Amino acid sequence: MIDSDFIAGLPKAELHLHIEGSLEPELMFALAKRNGIAIPFASVEDVRAAYNFSRLQDFLDIYYAGADVLREARDFHDLAAAYFDRAAADGVVHAEIMFDPQTHTARGVAFETVITGLLSAIDEAKAKHGMSVQLILSFLRHLDEADAIATLDAARPWVDRIGAVGLDSSELGHPPEKFARVFAQARALGLKLVAHAGEEGPPEYVYQALDLLGVDRLDHGNRSLEDPLLVTRLARSGMTLTVCPLSNLKLCVVDDMTAHPIDRMLREGLRATVNSDDPAYFGGYIADNYRAIAAARGLGRDDLVTLARNSFLGSFLPDAAVTAHL
Ligand code: ADE
Ligand code: ZN
Repeated sequence: MIDSDFIAGLPKAELHLHIEGSLEPELMFALAKRNGIAIPFASVEDVRAAYNFSRLQDFLDIYYAGADVLREARDFHDLAAAYFDRAAADGVVHAEIMFDPQTHTARGVAFETVITGLLSAIDEAKAKHGMSVQLILSFLRHLDEADAIATLDAARPWVDRIGAVGLDSSELGHPPEKFARVFAQARALGLKLVAHAGEEGPPEYVYQALDLLGVDRLDHGNRSLEDPLLVTRLARSGMTLTVCPLSNLKLCVVDDMTAHPIDRMLREGLRATVNSDDPAYFGGYIADNYRAIAAARGLGRDDLVTLARNSFLGSFLPDAAVTAHL
């Protein structure tokens, strides 16, 4: 049995976190009040009771609705500041966080409002917690290529404060190939590339993320395990998988935590990491994810240390900083 303090005390990087998915119901209510917005819930308990999902889309519908309370730069600041405080308590010393600009620009909130709010919280987290943070601008894959290109164009003035682009939202029916050109543009800007693939989508989507997008890291990747040749390729190339156990359970990617493949991934030579995805919706932050997987799969300290080391190896930190964290 691993003690909880060991997990929280393990320095780690969080590589798969949607900042909009860290919106706790309490903050949702506070921002709704501050911005004079009506929300379709009577209480915080009501909100939490609605968080029952049987697939990714059930979650996404409620997640996009929740984001409507975010209107002003200070809202994005408060959202991110709350996450950094929580993550620091869990031993996160480096975070690479995704944000979904299109969720906000589609509602008339300017890209500038979103990013200036997030950047102010990032600067504070560095000063307050000594945490390093990179931003990952994530495109919504249910929208079209032109919308993604317009979003990348809107980001150009801040490109030196963005580390990577990503691809998220409804996976099935929206293969990576749809975004090959915008990813090529992002690469030309010097950005790293990540994409959700193999969460609900088939191994074919993972191949596309590798071959057509040229990703530097794979978000989720669970369904890669269905294809032994793909597993070999991922292992040999040292591709990092950002695995999210509590998310996998809540979105029914696994039926039960005791059936989670995290240790199988490690045994097969995959560089798996543990992350929280949308912690306010899935019942826990990063240390909760480590605890859940350790308890359900009987992981020992050595496996947990490997997972934490993998998080630095798979990060976009410069080599010297990675080495300093190992
Ligand atoms: N957006 C936020 N969380 C997501 C997930 N787990 N998969 C796809 N898109 C998301
Ligand atoms: Zn995700």
